[in-house]
Amino acid sequence: MGLFAISDLHVGHRDNRAFTEALRPESADDWLLVAGDVADTAANVLWAMELLSERFSTVVWVPGNHDLWTVPSDPVRLRGRERYEYLVDSLRALGVHTPEDPYPLWPGPDGPVAVAPLFVLYDHSFRPAGTSTKAEALAVAHAAGIVCTDEYLLHPDPYPGRDAWCRARLEYTRERLDALDPHVPTVLVNHFPLVREPTRILRHPAFAQWCGTEATADWHVRYRARAVVYGHLHIPRTIVVDGVPHVEVSLGYPREWGARPRPPEGPRLVLP
Ligand SMILES: [Fe+2]
Ligand SMILES: [Fe+2]
Repeated sequence: MGLFAISDLHVGHRDNRAFTEALRPESADDWLLVAGDVADTAANVLWAMELLSERFSTVVWVPGNHDLWTVPSDPVRLRGRERYEYLVDSLRALGVHTPEDPYPLWPGPDGPVAVAPLFVLYDHSFRPAGTSTKAEALAVAHAAGIVCTDEYLLHPDPYPGRDAWCRARLEYTRERLDALDPHVPTVLVNHFPLVREPTRILRHPAFAQWCGTEATADWHVRYRARAVVYGHLHIPRTIVVDGVPHVEVSLGYPREWGARPRPPEGPRLVLP
């Protein structure tokens, strides 16, 4: 029984939709963690998650920034927190575990592991060198022409900004994680990396400010993670921080994976 993970399926792209349709578990007991960026429209998110929830024994989801976009073509016009809550309700109806549900226990060979789907955003604290405020960080990004589309499509309503939404999510999530049994290890699942290290190789360093928050830098230690699963960067690889693997499980866009020497694999095995 394996704990598998994937992210950034972006099923609005035809080739990614075909890739998703072909995903199958290796055994009937396999779990699948879906670490965000399933699609840009609610209907596509729910199409993919329904398909996966029928195939894997347990499915866990966290939102990516794209899942929370309100794109002009989407008949679901909800914005911000209301959109997130709409997705949570719809996915719960499919039996999918969301960041609003009790953390499921994966029955590992060495004892149970709490699988914690997290929704903590970013707050511009992964700032470019030489900047010390969000305003300065944003100014560098605008000057370089590297501004995340979230600025136009990921509405933070009812919060004044995505960084304020991030602060609220951090508070909520810390409380949930602090309440866990301290003898049980965890797998932390978040769309954005929990540490800054993976963003160091971004082609455009100014983009890192839309990729996480310094507030989670010690969570893999503090919350006893056996592994951290993330996506968003479209740079699938594993780095080890303080002895804990941080595994990027993204598929990415067809133009990205199509350029690699080998076709994309299925979901990554996280544990055992
Ligand atoms: Fe993505
Ligand atoms: Fe993303």
